[in-house]
Amino acid sequence: MIRRPIVALVVALAAVGLFTAGVAWLFDTPRPRPGATRGERLYMTLCAPCHGEDGRGSWRATLFMIRPGDLTDRARMAQHTDQYLVDIVKHGGSPIGRPGMPGFEHVADADVAELVRYLRAISR
Ligand code: HEC
Repeated sequence: MIRRPIVALVVALAAVGLFTAGVAWLFDTPRPRPGATRGERLYMTLCAPCHGEDGRGSWRATLFMIRPGDLTDRARMAQHTDQYLVDIVKHGGSPIGRPGMPGFEHVADADVAELVRYLRAISR
């Protein structure tokens, strides 16, 4: 009888451990390829969790019912000016009524430019 609470404690600790590992795995960022450009590295760290490694949207985003669209859609991306891309990355989608896309105000302008160059590269 005295053992019961200990078993319950061990089970509870294991459950917490598994849950934490699951959350960590869910938000883990994909590793960029060796020799990747700065833009690609930034993309993998900041954007891939939602937009997917290939830019077509991650299934993790689908799981949370986030619809990030397809950044490799050539016709669609060709309609966007560089300024539009800079603005939506820097300030997010909220100013244009598309709050799903977060802003990256803390990212330096030079890095935003690298990200835009990378977006152009994957939608060509
Ligand atoms: C929290 C998830 C999330 C992250 C992180 C994220 N995005 Fe987005 N992004 C979205 C969603 C959702 C949309 C679609 C918003 C809408 O259409 O309402 C979007 C839209 C966009 C668009 C507009 C596409 C279009 O056709 O108008 C661009 C460009 C974009 N994201 C680039 C990026 C870049 C670059 C990064 C990394 C710096 C990034 N996103 C990080 C969720 C995210």
